[in-house]
Amino acid sequence: RPRVLSGIQPTADSFHLGNYLGAVRQWVTMQETYDAFYCVVDLHAITVPHDPAELRRRSRVAAAQLLAAGLDPERCTVFVQSHVPEHAELAWVLNCLTGMGEAGRMTQFKDKSAKQGESAASVGLFTYPILQAADILLYQADRVPVGADQKQHLELTRDLGQRFNHRFGETFTLPQPHILKEVEKITDLQDPTAKMSKSSSSPQGILDVLEAPGTLRKKVMRAVTDTGTDVLADDDNKPGVTNLLRIQSALTGTPIPELEARYAGQGYGTFKKDVAEAVVEAFSPIRERTEKLLANEAELDRLLAIGAERAGAVARGTMATVRDRIGFLPRA
Ligand code: TYM
Repeated sequence: RPRVLSGIQPTADSFHLGNYLGAVRQWVTMQETYDAFYCVVDLHAITVPHDPAELRRRSRVAAAQLLAAGLDPERCTVFVQSHVPEHAELAWVLNCLTGMGEAGRMTQFKDKSAKQGESAASVGLFTYPILQAADILLYQADRVPVGADQKQHLELTRDLGQRFNHRFGETFTLPQPHILKEVEKITDLQDPTAKMSKSSSSPQGILDVLEAPGTLRKKVMRAVTDTGTDVLADDDNKPGVTNLLRIQSALTGTPIPELEARYAGQGYGTFKKDVAEAVVEAFSPIRERTEKLLANEAELDRLLAIGAERAGAVARGTMATVRDRIGFLPRA
């Protein structure tokens, strides 16, 4: 079976609709046909200032949400990145193959560091994409299901894999991004030209998976729509309505033209109410299952230990080859 790997940061109290539609939902589908590895990337989460107790809590919430969203530990491997130390080890090797200029071109670093002031940003934030490349190459992933914002990191991953292969011999599979056009960039409800984002959206602009149904409904009803009254997809002139159409189409499986026809002549009100219901219907079961999973921490930790064991076995295999190819002396 071809291999898939993807990761998500435990940097908020909940995943949001962008994470869910852009990534996690594909993860659930892909566990059926791929040898799938999904990780909660806590090493990435410490590239910005963090609180240890909060990180621990959020890592469990993240793992619980993934299981609640439909990842089945019998059919895929769900694990926490820091449980497999080979991620950091391979990242070091790849750091040494990456040019400063090459790393400096990564736009996510530019965006995130601009917020803190570039000289206050950590070196870890600078090398973040290289750790991500290590996550992917370690598992010899063929496919990486992500949102559009990860395209550049995937290109770097392929470049680094290829560079290693050329210099030291065929070692890594070069991964393809798996990005679904219709959901690759879910936008902020209040600023529909910007992506919905844990770090930069306002609370009103973001729909959290674990949020109360009443709050979700309110936020959808208050979403910025556009002038006019027609429910039509038009990215240039109607980014707000278009985003809501994409959301509803993805959640209900109804093609956008069919939705446009259904709401013709009805204005935005009915449409928004239906979008709100679709979101609540998708999120409520995930929220309920997440709460149940979190109530039994020992069981959750046990599942993550099984995941770490399986992931570790693959990671150790790849690292043994890497150490040999690089010229590290075997330990007698
Ligand atoms: P993160 O934690 O920011 O986001 C997790 C996934 O959600 C996608 N996503 C979106 N998709 C559509 N619309 C949006 N508004 C939206 N916002 C987020 C992201 O593209 C991502 O797929 N660097 C990664 C984590 C990572 C990773 C990896 C991913 C670490 N190692 C290895 C893949 C493979 C990140 O910050 O994701």
